[in-house]
Amino acid sequence: MSALIKSPLNYTGGKSKILPQILPLFPVDIDTFVDLFAGGANVGINVNAKQVVFNDNIKPLIDLYKTLQKNSVEKTLKYIERKIIEFDLSEENVEGYHILRQCYNEHNDPLLLFLLTAYSFNHQIRFNNAIQYNVPFGKHRSCFNDTMKNNLVAFMNKLHGIKAVFTAKNFDELDLDWLKDKDFLYADPPYLITTGTYNDGKRGFTGWNETQELMLLDLLDKLDRRGIRFALSNVIKHKKTENKFLLDWLKRNPNYCIHNIVKDYTNSSYNVKNKDKEDTQEVLITNY
Ligand SMILES: C[S@@+](CC[C@H](N)C(=O)[O-])C[C@H]1O[C@@H](n2cnc3c(N)ncnc32)[C@H](O)[C@@H]1O
Repeated sequence: MSALIKSPLNYTGGKSKILPQILPLFPVDIDTFVDLFAGGANVGINVNAKQVVFNDNIKPLIDLYKTLQKNSVEKTLKYIERKIIEFDLSEENVEGYHILRQCYNEHNDPLLLFLLTAYSFNHQIRFNNAIQYNVPFGKHRSCFNDTMKNNLVAFMNKLHGIKAVFTAKNFDELDLDWLKDKDFLYADPPYLITTGTYNDGKRGFTGWNETQELMLLDLLDKLDRRGIRFALSNVIKHKKTENKFLLDWLKRNPNYCIHNIVKDYTNSSYNVKNKDKEDTQEVLITNY
C-alpha cells in the first residue's frame, strides 16, 4: 500500500486510523468511487479508482475542497501565511481568531474556513442554523503547525493528480442512476448510536436520525439489486446500545458480509476512552 494521505482537517469521525483495515477490503478494479459522506475526505483521497466523487452535505466544506483542487500548493500556502500575519493568529490570540471568524462568516472565503479549523477548539468544523461557523478558539492547543502544513501539502498534491468531482448534496438527493458494476460506493454516515456535532440537525444541515438511517439502508439495498458494490462503515454496538435497524437489516440480508474493525490503541494510554472503544463494535459491511 502506498503512503497514506491524512486529511489536513482533523475531522471528527475521520477514518484515517482504520484505513489500513478498510482499504484492503475494497475491490481492486474501481472505475468511479463515490465517497457519499466524504467528511475529511480521508477515504476518497486514498482510494485507487479512475475517478472519485466526494459528496458531503456541508457545502462550505465542499467549497473548501474545490478551492484546494483549483489552486496551486504554493499560492495556497502563501495566502495562508499572509492571512496568519494579517489576523495575527497564534495559540494565544483569541481576539485575532474572533475577527477571522467574523470575516469568514461575512465573506465565506473557503481558505479562511481552513484557517479557522487550524486554530479552533479540537479543529472542529461546526455551524449554527444560520450557517455561521461557531467553534470557539482552541487556546494554547490549536494552530497551523508543521503537521497540518505537511498534511495540507500532501493532500493537495494527491488531489491535483486524481480525477475528483465534489458535490454538496444530501445523500438521498445525489443522482446515482449512472453507477455501473465497476463503480463502488462507500458510505460513512454519522453513527446513529454515537455522537458527532454534525448529527443533531441543529447545525444548518440535515441531521442524522432513524429516518435517515433507514433511507440509507434502503438506498444500499437498491444498489445491491442493481449489482453495484458498496461498503458501509458503522457501529453495531456502543456501550449498552445496539443499532437495531442495522442488525435487522443484516438479518434480512444474509448475503452481506460483516468485517469487524479492530480497535486502535495507538498514541493513547489506557484510559476511559479506551474502555469506550472496547465496548464498541465498529464494522465495515460489504455486499461482495
Ligand atoms: C463520519 S463523517 C465522514 C468521515 C470521513 N469518512 C473521513 O474519513 O474523513 C460523516 C459525514 O457525513 C456528513 N453528512 C451527515 N448527514 C449527511 C447527509 N444527509 N448527506 C450527506 N452527508 C451527510 C457529515 O457532514 C459528515 O461530514
